[in-house]
Amino acid sequence: MLITIPSVFSKTEVSKINQHLAKGEWIDGQQTAGEQARSVKQNQQLADDSQLAQQLGDIVLDALARHPLFISAALPLKIFPPMFNRYQGGETYGKHVDNAVRFVPGTTTRIRSDLSATLFLSEPEEYEGGELHIQDQFATQKLRLSAGDMVLYPSGSLHEVTPVASGSRVSVVLWMQSMVRDPQQRNMLLDLDQSIQSLTRQHGNTDDNVMKLTALYQNLIRQWADT
Ligand code: NI
Repeated sequence: MLITIPSVFSKTEVSKINQHLAKGEWIDGQQTAGEQARSVKQNQQLADDSQLAQQLGDIVLDALARHPLFISAALPLKIFPPMFNRYQGGETYGKHVDNAVRFVPGTTTRIRSDLSATLFLSEPEEYEGGELHIQDQFATQKLRLSAGDMVLYPSGSLHEVTPVASGSRVSVVLWMQSMVRDPQQRNMLLDLDQSIQSLTRQHGNTDDNVMKLTALYQNLIRQWADT
């Protein structure tokens, strides 16, 4: 299931981040691709060991930690350091599946990628092409989101970025391990949480049924979550 997470960043925050990125050191994206992906990946990446990548990465992680829909949908356990990428002049990332396990550079930490995310930092009007295609269970979803918005999708889905014919497409890509490995369990928890939030708005959080459902949600997390 694809989930759009709106307004991770405001337009003002996006433009501040882009100002910093314009001054960054961009390297060939091939350096971080797996073997199959390397043959289809043509883009640029902000050097991930640079201070800028680390500072901006922390800003992204802080924004996500404050976004209730992201937390509820992803139930994140570990998040790989955010990677900033840029496509221009026909650059593209052909069809691939993200690696199942990633090592955090310079550490022994391993992260199983349950969920991938793309956070758009360019407005759709700023470039041509550059569509993110994600093969869902029944169809291929084609996305060009507004700057500041993010899409969350299962890391096992085939996906690609079509060639950027003109302009520049900047985004952040993320991989994460969820506390709940099973996508169906994760989706049920998201549905339940959203219903609880809506019932809480109608009846208040001391309503008997709201409390019972909240207990049920917490108990399901206790059953299913790794921590
Ligand atoms: Ni990918």
